Amino acid sequence: MDQAEKKAAAAQAALEFVTHGIVGVGTGSTVNCFIDALAQVKDRVEGAVSSSDASTERLNALGVPLLDLNDAQPLDVYVDGADEANEHLQLIKGGGGALTREKIVAAASARFVCIVDDSKLVDVLGEFPLPVEVIPMARALVANRLVGMGGQPVWRKDFVTDNGNHILDVHNLRIVDPPTMESQINDITGVVSVGIFAQRPADVLLIAGTDGVRKILR
Ligand code: 5RP
Repeated sequence: MDQAEKKAAAAQAALEFVTHGIVGVGTGSTVNCFIDALAQVKDRVEGAVSSSDASTERLNALGVPLLDLNDAQPLDVYVDGADEANEHLQLIKGGGGALTREKIVAAASARFVCIVDDSKLVDVLGEFPLPVEVIPMARALVANRLVGMGGQPVWRKDFVTDNGNHILDVHNLRIVDPPTMESQINDITGVVSVGIFAQRPADVLLIAGTDGVRKILR
């Protein structure tokens, strides 16, 4: 089974959790597989709240009604991928730059189902460069603070988020206490959000490997 097949298997397994109501939809290549799979059950879904312009476009093509989060709370379930996940269902997200809206939709959802292939599972978060969304004028200020915390921030040039902001990808962090680091980085003035999802971790992690899809519940 190659990585694309594993992503599709994790996405298919997530359908079990989409039983009714409104579904929150994340962003990325694994979520694209989920959106494609959603076609099989779209009759039991009232509509979707999307976390990015890219996912909105794909959901539109499928004919799933799209709702504004302000008119749709609470969401029954949120399905999204991750760049890294640990056994505590804490995540690094934001490789696709959609971390802030993803965090908002995750916070508004009763259940967060995370779908990954087994290359994403790690013991300690941080090998994947940690995305941090920043207000553009604060980019250098935030970068200096992140250096002070032991990281090496790299500006993701030629990329602007759906919210009009910039992304710093922070290398060389070994995130042994994810909830604390999430707070510390969120507290830096100029940070919009950080790609550590630990204070609101996933509730269900579906990990696709060669032997099938493993499920971890929180
Ligand atoms: C986007 C994300 C994605 O969930 C993450 O980057 C994983 O993407 P993929 O499924 O393509 O590996 O956080 O902001």
